[in-house]
Amino acid sequence: SVLVLDFGSQYTQLIARRIREIGIYSEIIPYNTPLEKIREHKPGAVILSGGPSSVYGESAFHPDEGIFTLGVPILGICYGLQVIATHFGGAVDASAKQEFGRAKIQVEEQNGAAKSMLFKDIPNSDVWMSHGDKVVRMPEGFSVTASSGNSEMCAIETTGSKAALKVYGLQFHPEVQHTLYGKQLLTNFLIDIAGLKPDWSPKGFIEHQIEEIRKTAGKETVICGISGGVDSTVAAVLVSKAIGKQLHCVFVDNGLLRKNEAKKVMRVLKPLGLSVNLVDAEDIFLKRLKNVASPEKKRKIIGRTFIHIFEEQIHEEKFLVQGTLYPDVIESVSVKGPSETIKSHHNVGGLPKRMKLKLIEPLRELFKDEVRAVGRELGIAEDILMRHPFPGPGLAVRVLGSVNKNRLDILRDADEIYLEELKSSNLYRHVWQAFSVLLPVQSVGVMGDKRTYENVLALRAVESSDGMTADWAHLPHDFLSRVSNRIINEVRGINRVAYDISSKPPATIEWE
Ligand code: XMP
Repeated sequence: SVLVLDFGSQYTQLIARRIREIGIYSEIIPYNTPLEKIREHKPGAVILSGGPSSVYGESAFHPDEGIFTLGVPILGICYGLQVIATHFGGAVDASAKQEFGRAKIQVEEQNGAAKSMLFKDIPNSDVWMSHGDKVVRMPEGFSVTASSGNSEMCAIETTGSKAALKVYGLQFHPEVQHTLYGKQLLTNFLIDIAGLKPDWSPKGFIEHQIEEIRKTAGKETVICGISGGVDSTVAAVLVSKAIGKQLHCVFVDNGLLRKNEAKKVMRVLKPLGLSVNLVDAEDIFLKRLKNVASPEKKRKIIGRTFIHIFEEQIHEEKFLVQGTLYPDVIESVSVKGPSETIKSHHNVGGLPKRMKLKLIEPLRELFKDEVRAVGRELGIAEDILMRHPFPGPGLAVRVLGSVNKNRLDILRDADEIYLEELKSSNLYRHVWQAFSVLLPVQSVGVMGDKRTYENVLALRAVESSDGMTADWAHLPHDFLSRVSNRIINEVRGINRVAYDISSKPPATIEWE
């Protein structure tokens, strides 16, 4: 595998994802992981990420210097380059002009080809810069392999008597899309220089996991909460491939799902060979939510009720399947977004320890796009794999204020029209999340000759890559106009539709 040492760059996860796209397994570990721990991973190459600090700063992040004795190729990106340069006796200018954005690199040539194997088949081309410090004195035993207008030592590597160390440094970011030949560069590093084989694939992952799950579960039975979302479905199907009937799936219909969702989900799950127990718990959820208007109280009630109902479904099972993904388990040094503390999320993940179930988390090594690829390989319908995220508390946080069946039904009907139109206009896959919100506001309208006094519905669509930050989606006006028309004409109880044009921050994606 390839280890990515995380120095806190916003791009660390992107580095790991790019490596995996090349077909090589990669893991992210904190920058200060001790050498013995690093050795345990048996890395085939090490990448030092970028980071926000300066190598000379008092609180600067320094790796275990032993990494340079591991005997495997090392590539430092941005801050990683500064770490390399200072370790080998070079100097970094922390007061240099900051450089953000596109720059063009000049690749050093020798006999008509790139001087460095790292730049094999890479022409002078655009790269993405994002740094403050830059190398101003070359470390000993290194040579320059590419330069840019602003930094002569844009790419350096060990040479001569040090060549065998195979240490490389880049001032720019090969992992971002704006670096045109970034993937080629990473491929050169991993395959040509480090000699790694691209053997990481959904198929291989599935085979390996099936074995692991069998080993873990043995003859015991396993329980899995299904939500209809991508992660829990892929996790359940994977576990079911491994242990078949030993897996019991539970789908709790909390009455806060979208229109006909429980039925639809059950229909899609059936051909996948899962045995799913659908628990109709609408009454109890709605009863407990009656006259509760505070979003946080609603979340707590829903979380607690879910656990209570799920617990009743546990009998002899010894394991619980969870669809935990890699971004949740990385010990990240980067600053986490504020969303977790702003809203208390209650998912299946919040099941308390007292259930004494051991966990099976077959997706904990995967990024979301890899989960989808695994799902595809397992034969799960595209419709499920490409679904937008849906919050655990469901429509309860989209009917603002207190919730009742009538208001939920109005929202469901409107939302169904919105989603249907998004899909038929091929816009659904282009937004991160889209949904409707029923406002606790009434407005005056006129229908035929009659005055109406009814609800206002807000439509929300956002673009995002992880839900931490988001921008409102610029949906076409004629599309919005069609949706608004249909909703006002077809849904009883709504006479006005508004479109939410707030970004996160300062707004959040959901309204509650
Ligand atoms: P916010 O509204 O915090 O949402 O910008 C970010 C992402 O999280 C989802 N979300 C939740 N998911 N339980 C969940 O499982 C919750 O209580 C919850 N609140 C928000 C939201 O849909 C978006 O994808």
